[in-house]
Amino acid sequence: MEPVKILDNIYWVGAVDYDIRDFHGYLTPKGSTYNAYLVIDDKITLIDAVKHGFEGELLSRIAKIVDPKKIDQVVSNHAEMDHSGGLPNILKYIGLQKPVYASKVGVQNLGAQFQGAGLNLQPVGEKLSLGQQELHFVETRMIHWPDSMFSFLPNVGVLFSQDGFGMHLASPQRFDDEVSEDIWGPQALNYFANILTLYTDPIGKILEKAVASGLIAQVKLICPDHGLIWRKDPSRILTLYKQWVQQKPKNKAVVVFDTMWHSTELMARELTDALTNLGVEAKFQNLKTSHRSQVATECFEAAAILVGSPTINNQLYPSVADFLCYAKGLKFKNKIGGAFGSYGWSGEAPKLVQTELAAMGYDLPSPEVRYRWAPLEKDLNPIRDLAKSIAEAIKKVV
Ligand code: FEO
Repeated sequence: MEPVKILDNIYWVGAVDYDIRDFHGYLTPKGSTYNAYLVIDDKITLIDAVKHGFEGELLSRIAKIVDPKKIDQVVSNHAEMDHSGGLPNILKYIGLQKPVYASKVGVQNLGAQFQGAGLNLQPVGEKLSLGQQELHFVETRMIHWPDSMFSFLPNVGVLFSQDGFGMHLASPQRFDDEVSEDIWGPQALNYFANILTLYTDPIGKILEKAVASGLIAQVKLICPDHGLIWRKDPSRILTLYKQWVQQKPKNKAVVVFDTMWHSTELMARELTDALTNLGVEAKFQNLKTSHRSQVATECFEAAAILVGSPTINNQLYPSVADFLCYAKGLKFKNKIGGAFGSYGWSGEAPKLVQTELAAMGYDLPSPEVRYRWAPLEKDLNPIRDLAKSIAEAIKKVV
């Protein structure tokens, strides 16, 4: 368990979780890391911590640099458990009297999460002295919790950005120049789509403010709490964030569905083919084989989301209801929607999908398409018509 030197007197001392696959309902196919950083100065400062269960890994890395009991203070940029869960045990080991600095809301959240743990929680001001250098704090509410903040070491241009600019990617490499964008790019997008889509407006404003204040111009390294440290080219992830916060639609449609006896699947296949023939990049996403968070990532840059559901017990198919609930929470912007599905006798599901998509603010150029029992080739014209109306609507917005 070796620490990784980032700059003189700044080290990565976090943990690598190769095995995590479910991160509060979001699939993490490449695992994750819980990044924490140690800054050696007159006061030794630990910035962020690790999930409960990984405290030993963090302390063992720190021990290769300095006796962990010599840590003077801890900064918690974000109170979510994957970065704070280890704090009670870490503080118990290094000394419960050591201050844990957080934003005002962070102090409230940490206090509520760790009642009875005896943490010495202190709200940060604008700056904190480490001795020779100062740590500056930037409030970043809703990237992605109300308590979230960035810490910045201006003398070396190092930004500790907690969840911002992160990704769930477990690897032995720590830096952007050690892993190709072919590997990290999809994970960064997956992370943004599932964790940050809901907050694109506040993120856009924080980025604008950080540019206007001159902060971004001073940044030489970005150290997030998950995934790679941006050492070679921090501007690359900043550029992607500036693009992603716009939620600009591409000429792409996601056909997401589940099926009971393959009839809704047949409609989904025809819809995918028809959209492709009309020049739209169409993604076929069967919820039996695609996790809701993978589908959400496909949806992020798509202009259209077309949802198919069979009817069961007068209701939506449960996996489709699950996806709609998840997508509703993410509050995608600038989407065109469509609904379809087969049924046996009552057939409520396509209408229920259409109603949900309307409630989510999607543009619905066509009524829902439903078919009773199993459609033959000749019965699929309404699906081809749906594809045409969707392709036309996409052309108007891309
Ligand atoms: Fe990585 Fe919001 O916690």
